[in-house]
Amino acid sequence: MLLHHAAWPEVDAYLKHCKGIIIPIGSTEQHGPNGLVGTDAICPEVIAAEAGADSGFLVGPTFNVGIAQHHLGFAGSMTLRPSTMIAVLNDWIESLTRHGIDRIYFLNGHGGNITTINAAFAEFYANFSLDGAACPVKLKQRNWWELAGISDLSRELFPVGEGMHATASEISVTYYAHPSAIKSVEMTPKIAPVGGFTDAADYRRTFPDGRIGSDPSQATPEKGQRLVETAKRALIAEVSDFFGTRPLVQAAE
Ligand code: NI
Repeated sequence: MLLHHAAWPEVDAYLKHCKGIIIPIGSTEQHGPNGLVGTDAICPEVIAAEAGADSGFLVGPTFNVGIAQHHLGFAGSMTLRPSTMIAVLNDWIESLTRHGIDRIYFLNGHGGNITTINAAFAEFYANFSLDGAACPVKLKQRNWWELAGISDLSRELFPVGEGMHATASEISVTYYAHPSAIKSVEMTPKIAPVGGFTDAADYRRTFPDGRIGSDPSQATPEKGQRLVETAKRALIAEVSDFFGTRPLVQAAE
């Protein structure tokens, strides 16, 4: 069930059976010449939406701008400062826990968010620890590409040129989610360079078209669909375990 498509009495009824919610969390940043700027938000969003439809678990709005200062050298990229993101995440968490939600599962789509999400969790738990109180809430983050079966499937689908940023897998997932946004672009070089980076100017210099190590011209919606189906099944199992609740709807096979 999508929070944005529910009326409050439906949310009220849900919370009598389950006190958990899934929050997709991503980024708004360049993803190379053929990748959507929304890629890192769209991937967790589509996987969570399909898992929510199949399982009945509540899926909240997508937290869709994250830590992307290093992508600001490319048109359209947006970022939060880490301190802003920690503050905003805590407001999201406190809004949800006010209603009795005690398990929040963040399905993350962007590696650059990981340390800041953990810092936001520490900020939330510190309120209880400093008061000498026991926190009734558990927070968890998980990268969608680390869900069971995904790395094997990515290796099978893209033995060469999966890469680290603007990966063939993530671009495939967005093409499956939004086929009208598919772009056909020749990659030069075929496989992008790899390496480290600091700020936006350094990133742009090192990775001129935005990709790192990938050849996303291999991306197709069909491959994206296989990735979403595998991720969705793993997500339902993991969330069910974390919430301590079986799916509210039995998925039709
Ligand atoms: Ni990405």
